[in-house]
Amino acid sequence: MWLLPALLLLLLPGSAAVITGPEEVRGPEQGSLTVQCRYVPGWEPYVKYWCRGTYFRNCRILVRTSGSEQEVKKDRVSIRDNQTSLTFTVTMEKLRPEDAGTYWCGTEKNESDLGVPVNVTIGQGSAAVITGPEEASGPARGSLTVQCRYVPRWEPYVKYWCRGAHFSNCRFLVRTSRSEQEVKKDRVSIRDNQTSRTFTVTMEKLRREDADTYWCGIEKSGYDHGIPVKVAIFPAATTVSTTPTTTMSTVPVTTEASTSSPTVSGLHPEGRSLLSSVHFLLLVFLKVPLFLSMLGAVLWVNRPQGCSVGGGRAHSENQ
Ligand SMILES: *[C@@H]1O[C@H](CO)[C@@H](O)[C@H](O)[C@H]1NC(C)=O
Repeated sequence: MWLLPALLLLLLPGSAAVITGPEEVRGPEQGSLTVQCRYVPGWEPYVKYWCRGTYFRNCRILVRTSGSEQEVKKDRVSIRDNQTSLTFTVTMEKLRPEDAGTYWCGTEKNESDLGVPVNVTIGQGSAAVITGPEEASGPARGSLTVQCRYVPRWEPYVKYWCRGAHFSNCRFLVRTSRSEQEVKKDRVSIRDNQTSRTFTVTMEKLRREDADTYWCGIEKSGYDHGIPVKVAIFPAATTVSTTPTTTMSTVPVTTEASTSSPTVSGLHPEGRSLLSSVHFLLLVFLKVPLFLSMLGAVLWVNRPQGCSVGGGRAHSENQ
């Protein structure tokens, strides 16, 4: 049965990380920020450093320790290694907008370097600039509307709507040209109302495959602001909406009561059935094959000698 833990280990991402740090840190303009990176025991006496660049292999070192606990300060950046708490702390002061970018907590041991990326952002967080619905949904072949609000000062900036799990590489669908004019592209439109500081996105002729993560974004120098909006598409009603009880024939509900309730109540069961169908698809196409292949692998490995060895061990354990 050693195979199952081995398989599970293979499925897990690299758990043997030497350094760990925060994915993102934020500091205010002209203020300071602090980053703490941890390392595993055994790495105490080695050099620790803080460097900047998209890629670790050619990032520019800003400060580095010499493997000691002494603080090292250079320009607006300092680093201090605490070998008791297995942590080194980097402080950046008098922050400027152009300090935003990718940095790395790094350590050097026998010429081989290890590092973890830390995204540094300067200024207000996106959540403090844009607010919008966490989720939006619409019926297949129908349409949906999403409204995102923003705080003062952002009126004259480009607003956009993009699609993808990650904001950093989401795909633009529509963007405004800093004006209040509606922009329409394909089945999606956007309009910025700078008086109410709201931009409205409308998606039409919805299809099931439109379901995804989208972003309300504001373009600016450095990193754009963006907040995620989960879009769900529920099936278009196949029957007239005044008879939502037909699918629930086992429940003796008075039809008068159900028809008098608004159609919105009829939408909820459909949303749930969409969810359960997603679960069903996951079960059929992912979980079951995965389980079967693992089971198959276990049986295959145990097969040639398995009968005698396994049987023998079972006997000795019983006695
Ligand atoms: C190092 O960390 C330990 C444990 O957290 C703490 O007690 C100690 O004061 C720290 N040393 C320095 C120099 O900050």
